[in-house]
Amino acid sequence: MSRYAIIVGAGKGERMGSELPKQFLELKGLPVLMHTINRFHESAASDIILVLNVHFHSYWEKLCKEYNFNVPHLLVKGGVTRFDSVRKGLKEVTRKGTVAVHDAVRPLVSAGLILKCFEKAEELGNAVPAVPCRESLRKGGADSSQSLSRDDYFLVQTPQCFNSALLKRAYRQEFRNEFTDDASVVEKSGEPIHLVEGETSNIKITYPDDLKIAEALL
Ligand code: C5P
Repeated sequence: MSRYAIIVGAGKGERMGSELPKQFLELKGLPVLMHTINRFHESAASDIILVLNVHFHSYWEKLCKEYNFNVPHLLVKGGVTRFDSVRKGLKEVTRKGTVAVHDAVRPLVSAGLILKCFEKAEELGNAVPAVPCRESLRKGGADSSQSLSRDDYFLVQTPQCFNSALLKRAYRQEFRNEFTDDASVVEKSGEPIHLVEGETSNIKITYPDDLKIAEALL
């Protein structure tokens, strides 16, 4: 059975405050995106599909030449939302198997976590990594808020792995604002989600400080 990786990196990365989206910024001498692709190449992925904003396709091809980056992957045009980008990537999934959807901005994902998610999804239909909340939680705003039990909540990561037919079926739904990841899309289609233990080092590079943390962790 095939093991696909759809790496979504078509976001603008506005919270980073840099001109270049964060997936292209350098981390220990290599663009973030190349670290991410390398992790999937080293693990069990048989096909890597990279989804990027069309305005950055030629820039990415130039970067690959500059860094002599030769990991085989298929480049696909991104969409307006993450949901659209995943949907476009899914069109390139042509064989039956398992699909891992991963945020380009999580370059520290380990080969072990990728493998665990693929194997669990092959057994149960899907596998979504999550870690417990470390901080206390409150709901509300500055003037009125209530505490929540942190034991009831998990922070969800990627790669989120799914049986390919199940994921394609889920992505036929209309977009909803609450679809911020693939688990929310698949759940809405009626499938129970299976959580597996994620890794606290699998951080999502969102703010400038995250790059410094990632550098230290590497
Ligand atoms: O916006 P958010 O932080 O949730 O983005 C998560 C991932 O989805 C990022 O890697 C981003 O590049 C990707 N994305 C995408 N297409 C979009 C928006 C986000 O591929 N239109």
